[in-house]
Amino acid sequence: MLAIESSCDETAAAVIDQDRRVLSSVVGSQFELHERFGGVVPEIASRAHVRRILPIVDEALKQADTHLSDLSAVAVATQPGLVGSLLVGLTAAKTLAAVLDVPLIGVNHIEAHIYACRMAGGSNVFPAIGFVVSGGHSNLYDCTDPVTFQLLGSTLDDAAGEAFDKVAKMLGLPYPGGPSIERAAQAGDPAAFEFPRPLFGVNRLDFSFSGLKTAVLYEVKGKPGSSEPPVELTPNRVADVAASFQEAVVDVLVEKCRLALNRHQRKTLCVGGGVAANARLRQKLEQMTSDMDIRLIVAPLEHCTDNAAMAAIAWERLERGQADSLETDVVPGLVRRAASDRR
Ligand code: KG4
Ligand code: ZN
Repeated sequence: MLAIESSCDETAAAVIDQDRRVLSSVVGSQFELHERFGGVVPEIASRAHVRRILPIVDEALKQADTHLSDLSAVAVATQPGLVGSLLVGLTAAKTLAAVLDVPLIGVNHIEAHIYACRMAGGSNVFPAIGFVVSGGHSNLYDCTDPVTFQLLGSTLDDAAGEAFDKVAKMLGLPYPGGPSIERAAQAGDPAAFEFPRPLFGVNRLDFSFSGLKTAVLYEVKGKPGSSEPPVELTPNRVADVAASFQEAVVDVLVEKCRLALNRHQRKTLCVGGGVAANARLRQKLEQMTSDMDIRLIVAPLEHCTDNAAMAAIAWERLERGQADSLETDVVPGLVRRAASDRR
């Protein structure tokens, strides 16, 4: 199966066999195009996908020593994401599926992030609580099996990765912010600042990071109307703010996973998405799950951030006869249940 991923700013293609072995996985980062803007610019992302998608598909086929005629299906991320970016991947996938006369399978990018855990945990990772912490999403799911994911909660404002990126910007650290904050935090004291832990201890499975972000902003730039001067951003202070912020985010993320596991009585936790690359988060998740006797599976590092190999979840649908028609469209927003349906 050829899989294509272009939901945000990574142009990616992979070849995966039916045993879910990744025969190739090529990821073209657009990092250098968006860096100076401090975030992803949608129109620039779409244009770069248009230029890069075919060479990247060719490269994935070449590395897997696979010819187009060997393919039995084409998978593509169709939701959620930037509309222009998604459309580039879907158009390429539809064209290949039509020309090769093979099934087209649309994939939910967030569910694919959770499925990336199968690359580390083997075939029996479900049922599980699935957790995606990325630049666009902080979502908890109850995953009954590989094709039944029920959204339990998500962020009310910023995603965890987005908060990392914005705080890094406030501290003058380079984009993308997650790895920069993690690096700076290594030299800092996580207890130096008492930042708020939004919704911690509240009996709901949603997240909110805007209050925490504002608390960091006030610390760095000073509180409006306050006579107290802001902290001087010496390297030591930056390290302390980074470490204290990271600790606050990690505490909330781990606590919500614990709550979801308890509520839904699952014995496995699958974690994926870019923020899952964070060593402090991994460490605290390990501690919590070992205390609760839960099996923790974190996606392999190379499959935490956006890639096409995680679209191997399409095999689950193909094996159940759930292919899509060539009329399939993209769904940019996250489809979620009404707030009143959530506990
Ligand atoms: O999953 P991903 O590649 O793209 C989305 O689907 O959003 O995640 C990217 C996000 C960025 O916000 C980045 O700052 C964050 O993941 N990230 C990290 C780390 N590595 C990447 N956040 C915290 N610690 C890291 N080590
Ligand atoms: Zn992603």
